[in-house]
Amino acid sequence: MPIRTIPTTPFDDQRPGTSGLRKRVSRFQEPRYLENFVQSIFDTVGTGNGRLILGGDGRFHNREAIQTILRMAAANGFREVLVGAGGLLSTPAASCLIRHHHAHGGIILSASHNPGGPEGDFGIKFNTANGGPAPETVTEAIYARSKEIDAYRIVEGTDDIPLERRAEHRLEGMRVEVIDPVETYATLMESLFDFDRIRDALKGGLSLRFDAMHAVTGPYAREILVRRLGAPEESLLHATPLPDFGGGHPDPNQAHARELMAIMQGADAPAFGAASDGDGDRNMILGRNFFVTPSDSLAVLAANAHLVPGYADGLPGVARSMPTSRAVDRVAERMGIPCYETPTGWKFFGNLLDAGRIRLCGEESFGTSSDHVREKDGLWAVLFWLDLLAARNEGVEAIVRAHWREYGRNYYTRHDYEGVDADGARALMEALRERLPELPGQRLGELEVVSADDFAYTDPVDGSTSRNQGIRIGLEREGRIVYRLSGTGTVGATLRVYIEGVEEDPARQDRDPQQALAGEIAAARELARIEHFTGRSAPSVVT
Ligand code: G1P
Ligand code: ZN
Repeated sequence: MPIRTIPTTPFDDQRPGTSGLRKRVSRFQEPRYLENFVQSIFDTVGTGNGRLILGGDGRFHNREAIQTILRMAAANGFREVLVGAGGLLSTPAASCLIRHHHAHGGIILSASHNPGGPEGDFGIKFNTANGGPAPETVTEAIYARSKEIDAYRIVEGTDDIPLERRAEHRLEGMRVEVIDPVETYATLMESLFDFDRIRDALKGGLSLRFDAMHAVTGPYAREILVRRLGAPEESLLHATPLPDFGGGHPDPNQAHARELMAIMQGADAPAFGAASDGDGDRNMILGRNFFVTPSDSLAVLAANAHLVPGYADGLPGVARSMPTSRAVDRVAERMGIPCYETPTGWKFFGNLLDAGRIRLCGEESFGTSSDHVREKDGLWAVLFWLDLLAARNEGVEAIVRAHWREYGRNYYTRHDYEGVDADGARALMEALRERLPELPGQRLGELEVVSADDFAYTDPVDGSTSRNQGIRIGLEREGRIVYRLSGTGTVGATLRVYIEGVEEDPARQDRDPQQALAGEIAAARELARIEHFTGRSAPSVVT
C-alpha cells in the first residue's frame, strides 16, 4: 500500500513564532520532525476545498521538504497542489497565488532573512485562504496538535516529482501542477503600477540596482524589472537563488547588503537602489548615498499613494506595527484617516485588510505592503518607489526631505542585543513591567516619561486580544522607547530596543540618528538596566 500511516511521538518544540516554525536545518533533518509538524497542520486545518499552494525560498533542504509535503498532502486527501517550478515561491507570490486560485491555503518553506545552508536555518508556515499567515488561534491549535500527535500519513514507494519544468503529475489520487512561480504575481504588479511610466523613466535615464541577495527574488526581478520594464540586466545583483544564499545573510539592511551599499555610495551610484530578503517579503530602499528607513518609507508611500494607479482612489486607513515609528501617523492625521497600531508580525494586519479598513501597512523591520496580497511584499515596495520617482520626476532623497519638511522627521533607530541569555532577557522585561506604574512623571536624564505600558491589542474586527506585545515608554517631545523580545530568533533570546524622537525644525533634520537620539538611547539603556541583565554593554546590531 503506497499510503501509509506511520506511528510517531511528539516533539516539544513545535510552537510557531512570529512567522511560522523556524529552527536549525539539522532539527528539520531529524526523522519525523517535519512530518509531525505538517501532519499537525493538516489535522488542524483539514483539506478544505482540497487545493494547496506550495513553495519555498530555495534554501538548503527546500527540495527534500517539498517532496515530503507533496507525499503527505496526497496521503491526507488533498485534490491538487500547485507548486512553484524549482520548488520556488516568494512569500508574497505564494500569498497572491492562494488568493488567485482560491486555494484552501498554502505552505511556505522559508526562514526569511536567516542564513541558509546545512548550518543555517529552515522554516515552515501555513497561510490561510485569504493568503495571509495563519492567525494565532490557528498556530496555537497546530502547536497543541503537535504535542499529542501519534501518527502521520504519507505516500511511500513512488518517485520524486520532477520540479524543474512546468508540467502536470499525479501522486496517488492527487494532481500536482508545477507552475511558473512569477507569472501571476508579475501580472498583479502590472495592474497596480503604471508600467508605461516606469518604462519611460528607465529609458529616460532613471538608473537602478536591485540586490536579490542570492535568494528567491532573482527570477521575479528579472521578469518584472528587466523583461517587462526594460531595465538593463546589469541592474540586478546576486539574482541567482542559491541554497546557502552564497554564504550571505539574506537580510536587506545596511549591514548585510554591503555590496549594494558600496555601489550606492560610490561615484557612479544609480538613482535608486533596493534589496529584498530570503523569501522576498522585505525591502530596503536607497537613494544615491541615502538610506530610507522603513518607517519613513511607509509614511512617504501613504502620502503619495494618490499618484499610483492602484491606490489613486484613496486610502480608507493605514496601519503600522507598534514599534514602527509614528511618521505614518502624521500622514494619516493630515489625511483624516485612521492609523491602526498592531503588534509585531504581519498576521495582525490580516483582519484590517480583509475588512477593508486599511490598504497600506508596514513594519520597521523592512516590511511594507498593501491589500493586494496578505503578506509584506519586497518587490511591490520597489515598484511603488519606482512609480513615485517616475511620477514626481524627483530623486529618492528629494522626496524624503520634502516629506520631513512637511510632516517633521521621526528620527528612528533599532538596537538589537542578539543571542543573549533567555532567562536574563525575560528577567529584564519582567523587571520593567513591574516598574511601569511608577514611571510616568519620572525623569530619564533630560527627558520626562509621559506614559508607560505593556502593549496589548484588541483586534477591532474580531475582538481578540493579544497581551504582552512589548513595553512602550512615551517621552516628552513625542519621543518613545519600545522594548520587546524577538519571536523569530533560533538561539537564546534577542532583545530589541526601538528608539524614536521627532524633529520639526528643517534646519535640524540632517543629523545622524544615533546623535540626534543620543539622549533617548542612553535613557533606554539605563531604564532597562540592559548591561545588568544581558551582560552586554552595546547592541550587536544597530539599524
Ligand atoms: C521580526 C520583525 C517583525 C517581522 C518578523 C517576520 O520579528 O521584527 O517585524 O514581522 O521578523 O519577518 P521579531 O524577530 O522581532 O519577532
Ligand atoms: Zn522574509
